[in-house]
Amino acid sequence: MRRLAIGLLALPFAFAHAASAADEAGQEAFNNHCRTCHSWKQGDNRLGPSLHGVFGRKAGSAEGFGFSEALKKSGVTWDEGSLDKFIANPDGLIPNNNMKPFTGVADAGTRKQIIDFLKTAKD
Ligand code: HEC
Repeated sequence: MRRLAIGLLALPFAFAHAASAADEAGQEAFNNHCRTCHSWKQGDNRLGPSLHGVFGRKAGSAEGFGFSEALKKSGVTWDEGSLDKFIANPDGLIPNNNMKPFTGVADAGTRKQIIDFLKTAKD
């Protein structure tokens, strides 16, 4: 039942993007783990910053969001390696960050799906 509800929620977005099967799996994983706090639409900051264009960006540099000092001063640039570490265990990569309460995505395959999805969340 939960899967069905999430699938229905994702439908309009899937059509808007003319998404491939891989994109849909990534979107569903993003919806399950991240969407409570993050949107991938530009400038749409919620509890967490918009993840639009996050791939390749310097950590803590998105406009209009009050990042923690830890994130701003981390010197991290978001690529496959850093995103994978951060999503697995945020405090392991950047201690004292504010991404709470989020305990990480343990499954490496799910993390890869989410990261591949984030790569497409740009203009
Ligand atoms: C409980 C809310 C919450 C959840 C769930 C969550 N985040 Fe976050 N996220 C945040 C907050 C708050 C920040 C800002 C952290 C800071 O300033 O230290 C953040 C920051 C980030 C950043 C840094 C953005 C930047 O511009 O530097 C990335 C990347 C990120 N989150 C990815 C994810 C992904 C991917 C998921 C799902 C696997 C996720 N987050 C789940 C709240 C959340």
